[in-house]
Formats: sequence, C-alpha cells, structure tokens
Amino acid sequence: MASMRLKFVAPALAFVVILSLTSPPASHSQKRQNIEARINALLARMTLAEKLGQLQQLDGEANGNYRPEHLQMVRQGRLGSTLNVRGAQRTNQLQRIALNESRLKIPLIFGFDVIHGYRTIFPIPIGEAATWDPLAVGLSASIAAAEARAAGVHWTFAPMLDIARDPRWGRIAEGSGEDPYLGSVMARARVRGFQGADYSANNRVVACAKHWVAYGAAEAGRDYNTTDVSERSLREVYFPPFQAAVDAGVGTFMSAFNDLDGVPASANHFTLTDVLRNEWKFDGFVVSDYTSVEELIKHGVAADGPEAAAEALNAGVDMEMVSRLYNKHAGELIKERKLSLQTIDEAVRRILRVKFRLGIFDNPYADEALERRTIFNGANITAARKIAARSIVLLKNDHDVLPLDKNVRSIALIGPLADSRHDSLGSWTGDGKEADVVTLLEGLKLKVPQTKINYASGCDISGEKSDGFAEALRAASESDVVVLAVGESADMSGEAASRSSLDLPGRQLDLIKAVQATGKPTVVVLMNGRPLTINWIAANTPAILETWFAGSQAGNAIADVLFGDVNPGGKLPLTFPRSVGQIPLYYNHKNTGRPPEANNKYTSKYLDEAWTPLFPFGYGLSYTQFKITNLQLSTQRVQALRGNDRIMVSVDVENAGKRTGDEVVQLYIRDVAASVTRPVKELKGFQRVTLQPGEKKRLEFALTAKQLGFWNREMRFTVEPGEFKVMVGANSEELLEAKLEIEKP
Ligand code: BGC
Repeated sequence: MASMRLKFVAPALAFVVILSLTSPPASHSQKRQNIEARINALLARMTLAEKLGQLQQLDGEANGNYRPEHLQMVRQGRLGSTLNVRGAQRTNQLQRIALNESRLKIPLIFGFDVIHGYRTIFPIPIGEAATWDPLAVGLSASIAAAEARAAGVHWTFAPMLDIARDPRWGRIAEGSGEDPYLGSVMARARVRGFQGADYSANNRVVACAKHWVAYGAAEAGRDYNTTDVSERSLREVYFPPFQAAVDAGVGTFMSAFNDLDGVPASANHFTLTDVLRNEWKFDGFVVSDYTSVEELIKHGVAADGPEAAAEALNAGVDMEMVSRLYNKHAGELIKERKLSLQTIDEAVRRILRVKFRLGIFDNPYADEALERRTIFNGANITAARKIAARSIVLLKNDHDVLPLDKNVRSIALIGPLADSRHDSLGSWTGDGKEADVVTLLEGLKLKVPQTKINYASGCDISGEKSDGFAEALRAASESDVVVLAVGESADMSGEAASRSSLDLPGRQLDLIKAVQATGKPTVVVLMNGRPLTINWIAANTPAILETWFAGSQAGNAIADVLFGDVNPGGKLPLTFPRSVGQIPLYYNHKNTGRPPEANNKYTSKYLDEAWTPLFPFGYGLSYTQFKITNLQLSTQRVQALRGNDRIMVSVDVENAGKRTGDEVVQLYIRDVAASVTRPVKELKGFQRVTLQPGEKKRLEFALTAKQLGFWNREMRFTVEPGEFKVMVGANSEELLEAKLEIEKP
C-alpha cells in the first residue's frame, strides 16, 4: 500500500517519506553505532590468539563437569563460547572466570539446543507446525527462551528451517515440513518468539537459523548424505524459511554438514557469503555444525587441517564448533597468505556484535532466583498443554467414535507408548525431565477418574515379542472402548535416525489387528516423528489421532482431545505416503508432460502403487464439519502487479456442525504457463479460525507480487503475465478454484 500511496505525493515529500520508512529510529541506529565503536576499540586491543579464541566453541560439559583444559582456555581468552553448559549457577561460575581472570574480560556466549522447550517441553517442531498457528508457535519459543535465559543460556541452536520431502530422514521431526511458505511463517514466529524485539532482555535468547543449507535434501533420506539441488530449487524451496528468518532479525546461522552440488555447506562461498551476506545483508555470525569444519577433510575438499580451516573461514563460517582447526592453523595460514587478517577480524567482529547485542558485556550473569521462578512454572505448563492439543491432527473419525463419552465405564489403554515418559518428550529434550511428563495413561486417569482403565502395553515398540498380546486382548474384551497408543520411539527420529521403512516398527501392527478383531470400537493414537505408512490402520480402524511427540503435557493434551474438551484442528504439515517407494511425495510437485491418468499407461505413475498420498498436505478433520464456499477475487484481470499491490481473495467458511471448532483455510496458487515449469499448487496463505456451531465468517487473503512471482529462466524474481489459478480450501486437495489473469504489457 505504501508504494501506491507514494505515487500521489510530491517528489520532495516522497523522499522524506521514503527515508522515514527505511531508516530505523534514531535511538536504534545510535545503539548500533555505539556497539560498532565498542567492537572496534576491543578489536584494537586483541592479540591474534585472543581473536582466534572468540572463533572457538567447545562442548563444555563432560559428565556434568567442566573440562579443566577449558577453564584454562577461558582464563587465557582462548575460548569464546561453549555448548551444553547450562543452569544459572554453572554458567555464572564459568562466566566469572572469563570476566575476572581473562585479560580482556570478554564474556562467554553459552549455546544450547533449545529446540522445542528448555525444561517445559512442547511438541516436537513438526507437531508445532501442525498447529498452523504462528502465535502458538511463537509463544512456545518465547517460553523456551525465558526458561533458557533464566538458566544462563544465551543462544539456542534453533529454529531448524530445513525443508524436507523425505520422511525417511529422521530430522524431518525437527522442521516445519515440506512447504516453503508454511516453513517461512513458522521461521518468523520462532525467531520472534526466541529473540523478541531485543534479545538483550532477560527472557530472550538469540536464535540460530540452521542448517544452512539444503541439509533436508539428503539423498535417500540418509542423514548427513550428499545433496544436489539446482539454484532454482534452492531459491524457491530451501532458501525461503532462512530468508524469512533474516527478515525477522535472526542473530546467527549454522552451516550444515552436507555437501551441496560438490561444495560442502561449511565451505560454500555462494551460500555463506554471496547470498547470506551480500544479497540478504545478514550481519550476525555463522557457526559451523558440530565438527563440520574438520569434516571438510572427509568430504574430500581439503587435504588437511590447514586447508579445511582456510576453506571454511574464507567461505564465511565465523565460529568453529568443537573441532579446533581455526585455532591451530590460522596463524600459519595468515603468514602463507592463504587467509587474511581482515577475514579473522571480520569473523571476530560479527561474534562480538552478537555478544554486545545480547547485553552480556553489561549483564553477564544469570539470576538464580529468576531461574527458580521461571523454569517449569504453572503458566508454562498450561501453555504446553494448550499448544500440544492444538498440534493434534484428526486423520479419521468414522461414525463419530470420537470424542469419547466421559461417562464411559471402562477403557482399554493398550500399546507400548501409552505410559512412556521418555518417548513423550521426543528427540532434543533440552533440560526436560522424564519425571515432569504426564503420560497418556496418567492423562486418562486425571480426565475420567471414575472410569476403569485397563492398561496393557501389549508389546515393545520394536522387537519380535508378542507375549503381551494375551493380556492386551483381555483388557480389550473387558472394556467398552479401546485406545491404542502406538508409533515410534523418540530416538527413531531426530539426528542420525533415518529409517528405510515407514511402517510401525516391531509387532505393533499385529497387536492392532488382534485388538481390532475383538470388535471393540478402537481409537489409534499415533506418536511419531515422521509420516508413517499406516494403510491398514487407515482402512480398518475407525478413528486415528496423529499426536507427534507432544512433550511434557502429552497425556493431558491427548486426553483433552479424546474427550472433546479440545476439538482437534491441526493439519498435516507434510504428505503421508502410502509406501516408501513413492518418496519423495509432496503436494507442490511439477505437472510433468504426462501427468498421471488412470487409463493411460504412458503417464507418470507406478505399476504397483497409487500415485496419490494416503493423507495429503494440509489435511486434518474436526469433530464438527466446515463448509468453504463463495470464492471471490477483488479483480479477475490486472495489468501488472507491482510493489505492494494486492489482489484480495475472499471466501466464506461456516461451521455446519454441532460443536465449536477450528478450520485452517488454505490459499494456493498455480501459474499455468510460465518461462519455467511451475508447481501444480503452491501454498500462499492460511488462517486458522474458530467458529461456533452455525457461525459463518468471510475470510480475506492478499495476493501480492511476492506471492505470484518466481525465479524466471534468467534467475530473476518476476511476476510473469498470463493465467493463474487461485485455489482455497480445507487441505491441498479439496479446493475451490478461480481464475486470475495478469495481462501482457
Ligand atoms: C546437530 C545440530 C546441533 C549441534 C549441537 C549437531 O550434531 O546437527 O543441529 O545444533 O549438533 O548440538
């Protein structure tokens, strides 16, 4: 809108308006200048060894003790950062050494993986993305930040922004799924949640956009594997969440483990410097992933330590995590002119900048009383329960088996995940404690204290034993209804947790089949870190809830949904395939020259498998029914779309059922003919709304050049004239459709 209005003001005035729109408020820029002056003053006093110290991060915890060598390094100013040291008392102890005993008194920055909660654990990130609710996700990040900062942690290695289209890759659990738009919305929400407007506040941490970049494209879904991605796919699929993070002010980046088109991400000048620094103007620092600098040798782009250090530093990796090649070799590299002192100074400058912005030169210590008040407090626990319930996706509910009646006399709760504290937390549990967890068994008991709960684990998550089946079947036969808690163990997803099968592991499916054969109404509660191939369950059991790993409050949140205190409104942030053979299967694919047709052999499909998913991207049901109707565009033809011009898209959404519930209305587009092939659908907007029974709302979405544009044949971002389809609906398949024409000039 701003640019449209500007056309009508006099040029001189327009100049003033532009200036006031672009330059930050005086105090803000003053603050920045002060920081730069303090950095320069400090740099001028630093020896090379002290500069290299700032570039070094080491794992500070060894079985709950500091390593004596690290203490010595801190004293000598040769260690700038640790990971994993946490807790107000412990961080303060170490910080005191840096500030009282080192020559220049530069504070340490304490990093930690605060991925989905610090002590109060929220759903794993893929579960949070299933909320389609950036406010909820931002709240989760801000609570995690408050707990972490109170415990002396300044810096989280989150959010993970890797788009992933291969559910074999275990780290799909840590991201926001397969879609760059949803991924960008979640990126922004998390960065703002962690950092707030100013991450020097005592309830904020600086965030780290990781893993830069294309780590999620690992071949065959095998962790750490090679990636080979075109520049177009980088720009359209893998970059957008990272760019959203930069736009939201993210303070740090982490360079990934993978090689990308032959150049490892931790030695990649194009991604680290050309794009990140020069195009996007990122002014924070980049940390390597764990030993990823040293791994350049195994990748085969560096013959030895000095070459690896030079490659990483010259490409733009500022801080080295765990390996120590910068410290060992930078001196000789400078002498040999393979590295310049300016490169080192610039890396130090970026790291000091973030330390100054964190305010830790002025407020270096954590407050132990604040830590006690903040960690796992009542408000945080309540938020964890609400957000967990919002992340749950109802995949099936035949004959309204759900919600369960609170007057039910008996429930058989069966399955290896029904009472597992450990697994409820998922991977990356921060400082979360198993003792804090409410399991599903406990959640049911709290929800319906008068009901008899017949609990039997039935079998283990993996393994071949079936000796628990008999007890499980007895529990089923003695109960009015069966709830089956099945899925994966927490360590089957996350880092280094790729699977070649997406089936339920072990004997769990056999257990479900046996229980189902008793004829009792059966509800399947899934706990897992990735889409699973659950064809039999989808065809044969009446009700399925996808609950991911829902965190400290898992059992309460699932019970809230099972009994209808919360009406499920989550949607899938990724496609559920029917079989591993379909992978990669994602909704925003290209059309091909021969899109699949059932009766035409020579089209793009399989002989032995459907081409469609089991559950599509964006899918999820509710205990009520919604109708989406009356799709309209503010205009069907436009001459050109510039700047902030908008086309408004509107629809009616109505709750046509009997319960209050949430619908996530989704907007997709397709550019029908362009200079390069375009996806058959691309998500460009969504809104999660709550409606009372009978309530109807008109929703509006804006389409701008940013949403309709793409990287053309010359790799320039453009909106090309021609026909677009505009689609709105409840998931990526059930859509209303309208046409939009952008006229040729
Ligand atoms: C992971 C990162 C993590 C780092 C520090 C690495 O192995 O890839 O995601 O932040 O360890 O724990």
